[in-house]
Amino acid sequence: MLLRRLPDRIDLLKKVPLFSGLSRRHLGLIVRETERVNADRGKVLARQGALGREFLLIVDGSARVERDGKVIARLGAGDFFGEMSLIDKKPQSATVTAETAIDLLVVDARSFRNLLDTVPGLQKKILITLCERLRGADAALGSRN
Ligand code: CMP
Repeated sequence: MLLRRLPDRIDLLKKVPLFSGLSRRHLGLIVRETERVNADRGKVLARQGALGREFLLIVDGSARVERDGKVIARLGAGDFFGEMSLIDKKPQSATVTAETAIDLLVVDARSFRNLLDTVPGLQKKILITLCERLRGADAALGSRN
């Protein structure tokens, strides 16, 4: 479902941590590159092994992240996924499934790469999240040994 009114979407973006602190001009750039979609509970939003085509950001709802059938993380409002395959152009590292009805902002691959190059601080915020996820994965490995 596409949101009709642009101002609503800019107001929505302002509340997303990934885009916090950006000027109205940059928020306007992002709005033009995003589509707002809904999906039902159980919908597979990213599939391990497939080539990623979209960057997705959760506005409302939650999703689980599974690798080789095991749940490795849960994502909620403000979290994003699908960035890895778009950055390294390799298959998606995990399967992401909606655990509730979910409201998402979706950015296609080309637009995502474009935003990475033009939106100030976006690369850094995504890097920080990648670091957090790596630390989380390391901690989970450590607790198993
Ligand atoms: P990508 O590999 O493109 O597709 C699957 C996505 O799941 C991945 O990008 C990340 O966005 C997300 N993901 C993978 N591993 C984790 C993790 N440990 N914690 C949170 N999200 C993850």
